[in-house]
Amino acid sequence: MRILVTGGAGYIGSVVTEELLHAGHQVVVYDNLLEGHREAVAPDATLIQADLLDDGTLRSTLKAHRIEAVVHMAAHSSVAESCEQPEKYRRNNVIAGVALLEAMRDTSVEKIVFSSSAAVYGEPELQPIDECAPTRPTNPYGASKLEFEKELGNAEASGGLRHASLRYFNAAGATEKCGEHHNPETHLIPLVLQVAAGLDPRPAQGDRHPAHAEGDRRRRQAGRQGRRDGGSRPKRRRQPDPGRRQRTARDVRQRPRRQAGGIR
Ligand SMILES: NC(=O)c1ccc[n+]([C@@H]2O[C@H](COP(=O)([O-])OP(=O)(O)OC[C@H]3O[C@@H](n4cnc5c(N)ncnc54)[C@H](O)[C@@H]3O)[C@@H](O)[C@H]2O)c1
Repeated sequence: MRILVTGGAGYIGSVVTEELLHAGHQVVVYDNLLEGHREAVAPDATLIQADLLDDGTLRSTLKAHRIEAVVHMAAHSSVAESCEQPEKYRRNNVIAGVALLEAMRDTSVEKIVFSSSAAVYGEPELQPIDECAPTRPTNPYGASKLEFEKELGNAEASGGLRHASLRYFNAAGATEKCGEHHNPETHLIPLVLQVAAGLDPRPAQGDRHPAHAEGDRRRRQAGRQGRRDGGSRPKRRRQPDPGRRQRTARDVRQRPRRQAGGIR
């Protein structure tokens, strides 16, 4: 198939591109390179450096490469930043996504896989999270993912589109060529690995790591701003971060052993 990977110069998109090429597909990467890396794009893929909101380039790319399916990875994805700049997240993760759906409809591209997030569940009542668990995002990042999922549902109901949304979190791993490279890095697994490799002496779990402390500071700031703006007082429970693994009943049972040999 001829597949467009939006955000294909980013962490997950570059690996997806490599895998699609290995499986024999033709891949066009569509990325503005604001957060991605040119060198992460496999040489056998075609790179179009452009923004999803550049409607002319988007449509001409879909047409010129006779695209048959889209893997939609392009997004902003920092929970902390989304609390500080919710408009930025709605614009990129929802409005730019809707522009993609319109361009697909007008060029008869009917299949899309969306990189959603477990952040759509918010604070789940049960773990592991069931696919049918209620969706109650607790930050603008998760809300933007859920809103775009609804747009996908509407587009499919109106005919001409088939879609799948993948709600994962804490993606980890690397290929021989590419690994994770975010700046700043806020994801748990690379932070843990930096500590294990001696590159960061501070504990990566809990609230004491600078990345989490910064996230908590921004969330507190967003809460204060909301109250100043007349919003309702936020509940005092901690906002979940999809980059931070939630504690399970098994963890509680194992706590003494983990504390003895853990990374703290
Ligand atoms: N990393 C995770 O653990 C994780 C977990 C769940 C979901 N996701 C989702 O998966 C996707 C990829 O995540 P990632 O960690 O690889 O992120 P990333 O930041 O490494 O990659 C995103 C890419 O999209 C590009 N991009 C963003 N907005 C764009 C736009 N408007 N037009 C063109 N290009 C644009 C960026 O330049 C970047 O290369 C995101 O949608 C993210 O929300 C990530």
